[in-house]
Amino acid sequence: MSGTLKTTSSSKGSNPLESIANKHVVVIGGTSGIGRAVAQQAAAAGARVTVGSRNKKRVDDTVALLGAQGQVQGRVVDLTDAESVRAFFEAAGEIDHLILPGNEVHIAAFRKLSIADAQASMASKFWGQYAAIKAARMSATGSVVLFSGVASRKPGAGAPALTAINAAVEGLGRALAVELAPVRVNVIAPGVVDTELWAGLPEDTREAMLKSFTQRQPIPRPGRPEEIAAVVLTMMAATYMTGAVIDVDGGTLLV
Ligand SMILES: NC(=O)c1ccc[n+]([C@@H]2O[C@H](COP(=O)([O-])OP(=O)(O)OC[C@H]3O[C@@H](n4cnc5c(N)ncnc54)[C@H](OP(=O)(O)O)[C@@H]3O)[C@@H](O)[C@H]2O)c1
Repeated sequence: MSGTLKTTSSSKGSNPLESIANKHVVVIGGTSGIGRAVAQQAAAAGARVTVGSRNKKRVDDTVALLGAQGQVQGRVVDLTDAESVRAFFEAAGEIDHLILPGNEVHIAAFRKLSIADAQASMASKFWGQYAAIKAARMSATGSVVLFSGVASRKPGAGAPALTAINAAVEGLGRALAVELAPVRVNVIAPGVVDTELWAGLPEDTREAMLKSFTQRQPIPRPGRPEEIAAVVLTMMAATYMTGAVIDVDGGTLLV
């Protein structure tokens, strides 16, 4: 076949992340770990960023930290509290990109985890994201990024509730991509990432655990929050991506 490949004027030399500039990006769970890295990178790309989480000091500290880089505001929200969710989204106004890493789960083996703690984890990670999307006023050109985790498809012994929650989140993402179109809905499934999520453990236990979880992966180390965040920004900008589950996990699903 002969002929020259034509580039369209919209693709020629453009940087997709430029499309995030001046957009309203809301990151619930934006005060820690992956969410804070997303907020930081979105602000650096010129977005108007709103971060939310339960702890006012964390919200204020994050706004102070990231505010120097761009337009960042914050507001307290608890995704497990219906009135808090309503008030947060009423104040937020129209949203271009809704990013949902904010939750707290109990991780324990089936015989050890109480049903109450398993249900609280589902209430936080699954129903929290569900409630946020239901309350949000999304721009028609916008997108949602839900958070699952590779446990959905690689269940190590010791966290069956989390495996089920993550699988439910991935199902929700696919269903909402169909139902909420033209709003795009995608899911990111991180592998093990070194964030405050593991901070409750003593330092030496934490390091040993992160090493044992990741040492057989093709990329044999925990991920860094900014490595996951960079993919989330790409998902916001990827106008032909919806209903996808994107694994960012150092290749752990292969081993
Ligand atoms: N780190 C990993 O190894 C890993 C692996 C797989 C999947 N993931 C997933 O990636 C996402 C982000 O993880 P991360 O490691 O960045 O977590 P993280 O550092 O623990 O941060 C969690 C954030 O969520 C907020 N939050 C917790 N409960 C909330 C609620 N009910 N309402 C609103 N905000 C709430 C926290 O702030 P407040 O305390 O102020 O509310 C914090 O900002 C989560 O969905 C996690 O399951 C992480």
